[in-house]
Amino acid sequence: GKLKIWVSRPLFPDVLARLAEHFDVDAEAIERKHSPEQVREKLLGVDAALLGLADRVNAQTLEGNERLRVVANLGVGYNNLDMPALTRGGVLACNTPDVLNESVADYAWALMLAAARRVGAAERWLRAGQWSGGMRFDDWLGVDVHGKTLGILGMGRIGQAIARRATGFDMPVIYHNRSRLPEAVERESRAVYVDKASLLRQSDHLILVLPYSRESHHAVGAAELGLMKRSAVLVNVARGGIVDDAALAVALRERRLAAAALDVFEGEPAVHPDLLDLDNVVLSPHIASASEDTRRAMAGLAADNVLAALGFGPRAGRPPTALNPEVMARWPAGGPR
Ligand code: GLV
Ligand code: GLV
Repeated sequence: GKLKIWVSRPLFPDVLARLAEHFDVDAEAIERKHSPEQVREKLLGVDAALLGLADRVNAQTLEGNERLRVVANLGVGYNNLDMPALTRGGVLACNTPDVLNESVADYAWALMLAAARRVGAAERWLRAGQWSGGMRFDDWLGVDVHGKTLGILGMGRIGQAIARRATGFDMPVIYHNRSRLPEAVERESRAVYVDKASLLRQSDHLILVLPYSRESHHAVGAAELGLMKRSAVLVNVARGGIVDDAALAVALRERRLAAAALDVFEGEPAVHPDLLDLDNVVLSPHIASASEDTRRAMAGLAADNVLAALGFGPRAGRPPTALNPEVMARWPAGGPR
């Protein structure tokens, strides 16, 4: 019979149609959160899955599964996937790198500008009809972006795309990363390597783009916030949990930081209630990659991975962005069951 695939989120119909040429497609028609037990049951019945970042795959959800061969994440980050457990089980994992770099970089800038110039709060004030009550010349003063020092924590391909955009704003760029970039890449992104404490102290605008891991959990907490300038703006487009949201709310309330902008949250879709009460933070629902072109490219790439991994199409046997391609050598001859 045909191979089966579970698509855990509603997806573009043309992508589903491509998958349906080779698979029985079980596609969720509505967006909903799946419990670990639901994920486990769905995965038991399929050869492949296209997953959202909220769907966790680990030893528990793979228990007793002899059939599953591929999980394709709809995103570049894959902290929802337990890679050792997948690799042990012979399951190929894929993500969607690169196709979203420029859109996420655009969005990081949108958040930085919005937070610095108070776009969200000013719009809420206008929509509430308050402008007709008058406005002072010194109302709504923000902090400048142009000419200030841009700091980037986590200097992968998205970080580099963010850095390249600084030229037109005459911003010097500093960065910190687990490993320093090759000199040629530093030159191209006009970015100067500094240690983490210097990055926190010197940045006027600090953008976080590092992957989530045990090591990056609360990489920016109370102590780190304490090193930042009172006039600084902090932007998180990386992952919830990299910032200690409770500590950030305290710093913002006490004006120990000018403003922040967050696209990701610890425990999202829940948002720390203290953040919701503050006017100097811009909040958005994890949409940094959500442009029409980029979300289509991500879905297409996830489908390309599944199709190629299971032997279909021009790249049969060579999925374009596999995270653990070595598992394919252990698949039974003639491909998956
Ligand atoms: C979004 O957060 C992604 O990892 O692509
Ligand atoms: C502002 O709108 C100005 O004209 O200065």
